[in-house]
Amino acid sequence: MKTELSFAPLAGIETELLAVTAVDSQTAKGPDFKPQPVLLTADEAVISAAAAVLASGEFKAGVNETLLLHAPAGLAARRLLIVGLGKQAKATASSVRSAAGTAVRYTKPRGIRELVFALPEAEFLPPGPCSRASVEGAILADYDPDTYRSDRKDLSVHSFLLAAPKAAKAASAGSEIQAGFGEGVIVGESQNFTRVLVNEPGNKLTPTILGQRAAEMAEQVGLDWQIHSTEKLHELKMGAFWAVSQGSEEPPALIVLKYEPATVDPAAPVLGLVGKGITFDTGGISIKPGDNMEKMKYDMAGGAAMLGAMRAIALLKPKVRVICIVCAAENMPDGKAYKPGDVITAMPLSADRPGHTIDVINTDAEGRLVLADGLTYAQQLGATHLIDAATLTGAIGVALGTYNAGAFSNDDEIFSKFQAALAVSGEKFWRMPLGQEYADQIKSDIADIKNTGGRAGGASTAAEFLHTFTEDVPWIHLDIAALAWIEDSRPFIAKGPSGVGVRSILEWVRSY
Ligand code: BES
Ligand code: MN
Ligand code: ZN
Repeated sequence: MKTELSFAPLAGIETELLAVTAVDSQTAKGPDFKPQPVLLTADEAVISAAAAVLASGEFKAGVNETLLLHAPAGLAARRLLIVGLGKQAKATASSVRSAAGTAVRYTKPRGIRELVFALPEAEFLPPGPCSRASVEGAILADYDPDTYRSDRKDLSVHSFLLAAPKAAKAASAGSEIQAGFGEGVIVGESQNFTRVLVNEPGNKLTPTILGQRAAEMAEQVGLDWQIHSTEKLHELKMGAFWAVSQGSEEPPALIVLKYEPATVDPAAPVLGLVGKGITFDTGGISIKPGDNMEKMKYDMAGGAAMLGAMRAIALLKPKVRVICIVCAAENMPDGKAYKPGDVITAMPLSADRPGHTIDVINTDAEGRLVLADGLTYAQQLGATHLIDAATLTGAIGVALGTYNAGAFSNDDEIFSKFQAALAVSGEKFWRMPLGQEYADQIKSDIADIKNTGGRAGGASTAAEFLHTFTEDVPWIHLDIAALAWIEDSRPFIAKGPSGVGVRSILEWVRSY
């Protein structure tokens, strides 16, 4: 998708489809009050072209509701699409992200290849954030997961033009719009980079190939990278990561990416991004039932989110050092696989902190094992602040459903920065509890800890398992198991890989 920014007056833009946003400005309630849709444009020609249909009451400007007019009078555009943002008081830049996405996904199946999207006027919504959100939404919406269909039709929207109000060009808003637009392209493409990886089947994306894809990306955007395998795991004594890897013919990949800003204070924080990269999770010897097991190709979504965030970091160049570690392996049952009852030893942090011993109760609780060593390695490489992302537990979906992902933290300050990032990213994460009681649930009779704590509070006991390896280092854990894959398409995004986490992790990094 080619993206462009223009400050030309809307009425004169010749295009197959012009999309404008609308809100419902009705504040009164009750059976006698009709919705009052208001277009978020000052363009008189557009307002008069839509006047009759808006007066009819047929269109309520509900969230992602659409209305199409052919041959709109007085406009050079051949079609006018109105996209609702919902109630005026609740509309934000994030609503505009969805609206731009809705416009693209309206356009795609109709074989229309070009789209002009009108940026809402500044009197309604902030232009910089809306500019960024519009391009993000458009780029995300253009993605479809049908990569391997032989009869795949190219339905992508080839050209997306963001039309900003003409008056904004000279004003300071003009540069905000320009900057937001540039960021939106980077962020949208980085999130799609993640989605492409998450979509890949296990036979096409082994740990080795994930490592290659990470290295190619790192080369393109100028990040330092190293891809290690079995030997390095042994050298670092990554006993937990290796235990998971040992049951597969496919060697593991320890992916390390580093971002350094041009100038840096040696005392400044070093952010450590750690991702779970299980390229397929059979459950191992504690094998999963067959139903839905094919979904376990997306068990590397946390790792892929970190790679997408790193791509955007490299291009947006925040002033903070970042280390990214993805622990990639395949969790398989074979003659060499680790077994329930095995006791394994995680990576030692230093001479003073030897590796914790782990009693393996269930080989399907493998994500926390690879992350344990990844989190330790990040600290050994100098990370002072940690964030991890993982499709870690089914329990998080039971607790929160599919609209909020889980977030855990041992430190209110780091978490408040993450929460501020959510306001920009528009993603939903809900803070979940850690606590000694959950830690008690994973005490073992034979070793330091065990890798499962029973059904109750499964997402929190998994998080407490990770906490054993981060201790007092400020840390955030993101459990994205229930959001990494979208089961049903939405008006603004295809079903399939979501790329959840990329935007929030990126914004959190940029806040340092
Ligand atoms: N990869 C799964 C978690 C998962 C479930 C991700 C559903 C996406 C969708 C993880 O490795 C796992 O198997 N977790 C177990 C833990 C249990 C054995 C303690 C689970 O949640 O059942
Ligand atoms: Mn598992
Ligand atoms: Zn898993």
